Parts: sequence; structure tokens; C-alpha cells
Amino acid sequence: MRIGVPCEVLSDECRVAIAPDTIGRLSKLGFTVQVQSGAGEKASFPDRLYVAAGAVIVDTAKEAWDADIVAKINPPMEHPELGGHEADLLPEGRMLISYIWPAESGDLLERLTRRQATVFAMDCVPRVSRAQKLDSLSSMGNIAGYRAVVEAAHHFGSFFTGQFTAAGKVPPAKVLVIGAGVAGLAAIGAARGLGAIVRAFDTRAAVKDQVESLGGEFLEVEFEESGEGAGGYAKVMSKEFIDAEMALFREQAKDINIVITTALIPGRPAPKLWMEDMVQAMKPGSVVVDLAARNGGNCELTVPGDTVVRHGVTIVGTRDLTSQLATTASNLYGTNIFHLLDDLGGAEGFNIDFDDEVIRGTTVVKDGAVTWPPPPVEPSPAPAANVVEPKVDTPEPVTESVATKEASQASSQGGFGRAEGIVIGLLIAWLGLRYGLDDHVSPATASFLQHLTVFVLACFVGWQVIWNVTAALHTPLMSVTNAISGIILVGAMLQLKGDLTDGATLLGILAVFLATINIAGGFLVTERMLKMFRK
Ligand code: NAI
Repeated sequence: MRIGVPCEVLSDECRVAIAPDTIGRLSKLGFTVQVQSGAGEKASFPDRLYVAAGAVIVDTAKEAWDADIVAKINPPMEHPELGGHEADLLPEGRMLISYIWPAESGDLLERLTRRQATVFAMDCVPRVSRAQKLDSLSSMGNIAGYRAVVEAAHHFGSFFTGQFTAAGKVPPAKVLVIGAGVAGLAAIGAARGLGAIVRAFDTRAAVKDQVESLGGEFLEVEFEESGEGAGGYAKVMSKEFIDAEMALFREQAKDINIVITTALIPGRPAPKLWMEDMVQAMKPGSVVVDLAARNGGNCELTVPGDTVVRHGVTIVGTRDLTSQLATTASNLYGTNIFHLLDDLGGAEGFNIDFDDEVIRGTTVVKDGAVTWPPPPVEPSPAPAANVVEPKVDTPEPVTESVATKEASQASSQGGFGRAEGIVIGLLIAWLGLRYGLDDHVSPATASFLQHLTVFVLACFVGWQVIWNVTAALHTPLMSVTNAISGIILVGAMLQLKGDLTDGATLLGILAVFLATINIAGGFLVTERMLKMFRK
């Protein structure tokens, strides 16, 4: 199968859908790649790099589009140089991988259906852990968060880190990050790396630990409402919550120098969170970088696509921050496409499997029929009494966590379940063996049966504990299992008194070996994790 990579026609776009580094990996999947001459130029990938990687260079957009699959970044658009719409260059019945933004691209979807196309929208990849490798919104969000800090530093007239110099003391910059999703967390990390004092706010309390682990301070409002929508995504908050949030921001506005806003609710316009009076309250020379500019902006004064100065504050509304790191962005985007094609079975086993929720969510048009939005997933758990649930008319994203949450809810609320039944059954069996069989079997058999029951019970309890403990708590859980392994080790060593032909001694040796692996492995993993936090 041939993949075509045309030049991006959007002005100021510097990225290219597939970088030379990805060509070799695509070849291994059985694809050949044809690249329009100059497509990678602005991302520092001259044609010769593509040729060296095994791609074929073609001269015109028409030739590049004449492929089985066309890979692009921006949605196909009208362009005078092409004498029409890019979508019309796609041969009938072929495939397109690109950002599509289907909620706002009705005309484009219609055009693509007329081409009998099959379209994979990179902006519709469900945000489940299995799909992270093809989640380009995350890879681009990460770049945008980092770049937002660089942009802020460029416009800010002082250091980020505090300094004591012979000429006087310079205080550190104070940065507020609103929205601690992918971009927000990257911004926190970058601003901390430059030495600023960083505060962050998000409606999802779950991100508090992540903010703090990056060295930021997590701000909270005195109003209880969960910001978690289905599957851990943000939801629209009640007016009361937003009022409390605004009051917090009004307080912060007087103190901070830089605001980076990234608040986003999937399928909604960006919420307005940084109002004109807050801009006015900021010190002259302060900077607002509004990452949500593409969706209308979080700041009331943002001019999407432009940088303006209002009330002495610079407000950056650049929409193409990722394009400013075009080389890295193209490498990551190309890798995301590679993983999508890999999940589709490569050139040999290519198959659009609608039973796969990732493929189903990503496919917005199939053989000329619009398949967006994907069917809604099972309903999410009922909200708690104090949660104000807004009317959401866009489908909730498909996520693993919904299923996981429901499963754990079911197991925690399901009353008398299978697990409890098994435990009680085993306990009855143990009591029977302990008090019933003693008179009828030899003491050795009774003792063996008792030990066996305890062993089975221990396996069962261990299995239940591990499967019902949330992944975030696996590290403390590991410490507990290490302690248990210590007990096993002592018990096993006590058994090592017979000769090597004795079954108990052999079992003891095995137990010592296995428990040692667990303890030593635990220390190794802990050491590696600690290293991640050391600078
Ligand atoms: P994300 O969905 O991972 O994070 C958004 C965060 O906003 C979530 O954590 C959510 O809980 C939070 N949020 C929602 N409502 C809030 C509220 N009222 N107050 C505080 N926090 C709230 O999204 P991601 O990937 O981090 O992207 C962030 C923004 O950056 C998006 O608007 C995206 O379009 C934009 N972006 C801009 C780029 C550019 O070049 N300018 C490039 C990539 C992303």
C-alpha cells in the first residue's frame, strides 16, 4: 500500500505528517511512502533525508494525493494554488489520516463522503491508555505546554528564577497554570525547570498529586464539586463553582506575573476564565499565554492567532505553538500515525475493525458513510448527591476508565457477590477440616489439608487485593507484599532443616528463592522510581 504525504497548505504550518525517521518503520509494516517535494522543508527535513530513508519524492500535490492512504496534519482545505479543495484530490474510495475536527467540519465530511473515502481523524482518538501511543492531541499538547512557557519567557521582562546579585535582589516569577491536563502539566514542568514559583488550578482534584510531583502548588476553592466527567475527563462546572474559581483567580491576579491557560472541556468552546478585570489587576509587564485560543480562548481579551497588549499585559493567542517546534512535532505526529497503521494491521493485514474501540472512535467516515460520532459507551456511574450534572449533548469519549470505574463500583456496591461467596465457602471448608475431620483422618493429613486451605485462601485474598487496588496504589501495595515476603522468607528458612530429599525442604528452598526475588525486585524498582525524582 502507498502512503502519500502532501505539503501542508495552511499558511504558517511548518510541520509535516511523516518525518524521515518514521519511513523505515512504515516500510517494515509493508508500506511505501511518497512525499511531495518540499513537504518537510519547514520542519528541517529536506527531500534528500526522505530519499535516504527510502521514500519516493513526487513533484506535485496531485501525485502525492494519488495514494492508498494520504497522511496530513491539517484538515483538507480550499487552496488557490491547487485550484480547488484538497479533498477533491483524494481518489475515490481511498483513505485519509488527518485532523478533521468533525464537530465543526460538516462541509468537509460531506465532501469526503462524496469521494467514498474512509477517514481516520487524529483528533478523535479515544483517550484510553491503550491508545496513548497514537494520541497526537497529547503529543502536541505536551509540546504546546512547553512552548507556552518559552513564549511567556520571551515576552516577560525578567528572570523566571529568583536571583541575588551584587546589584540587588530579583524575585522569582510567579506563574499560574489554569487547567492541568497534558499541556498544563508540561507547562508546569517547564516553568519549574526555569525556576519560577508555579501554582496551578484544575477542576479535577485527581491532578493535585501530579501538579505537586512536578513542584507546583495546587490551588483549591472552598466549594465541593467533582470536576470529573465520564472517564476522568473534565465536565462543565456549575455556575457556583465557576464563581468560586473566579474569586480565587481575582485574588491571584494581583500577585502573579504569568498566566498560562489551557482549560478545555471536550466538544465545548473554551470556558472564559480570565476576565478583563483580572488582566487589569495584573502588574504591567505581565503575560497571559492562552493555549485555548483555537477554541475561542480562556481569556476574555485573547485575539485568536495574534499577540496583543491590553492594560499593559501581553496576551498571546498563538494557535500554532506546536508548529514552532516543527521537527519534534513532526517526528511525534509521524510516530502516532505509525502506531495507528500498526493497529490497523499494517499493509499486509490491513483491517478496519469496528469492534476495536480505538479504531471505531478514530474512524469518522467509512466507505463514504459518516460514522461520527461513535456510539456512546455504557452510562457512567450516577453522580454523587452534591454533583451538579450539566446537560451534555455531545457523546462522552470512550474510555477504559469508565468501564473500570463501573466494574469497581459494581464490585463494591454489588452486595453479596461471587468473591464473598468463595471466601465464605473456603472458611466453612477450613472449619470443617479443623473441627470435623480431625477424628477421622491421620494428624498428618489433617495438618496438610489445613495448610492447603490456608494456602488457597491466601492466594485468593492476594488475587482479590491486587485486582481491586487502583493502579496508583500499586507501589505502596508492593511495599506490603515485600513485608509479607519477609515473613515467608523466615518461615521457609525454618523448614530448611531436613535433607535435600525431603519434600518440605525442597519447598522451603523454592519459597526462599521466590521470596528473595520479590524482596530484591521490590528494592530495585523502588530505587529506579526514586531516581526519577532525583535531579
Ligand atoms: P486536556 O483535556 O488534557 O486538559 C484540559 C484541562 O482543562 C483538563 O485537565 C480539565 O480538567 C481542565 N479544565 C476544564 N475546565 C476547567 C476550569 N473551569 N478550570 C480549570 N481547569 C479546567 O487538554 P490539553 O491537551 O492539555 O490541551 C489544552 C489546550 O491547549 C486545549 O485548548 C488545546 O486545544 C490547546 N492546544 C493548543 C495548541 C496551540 O498550538 N496553541 C496545541 C495543542 C493544544
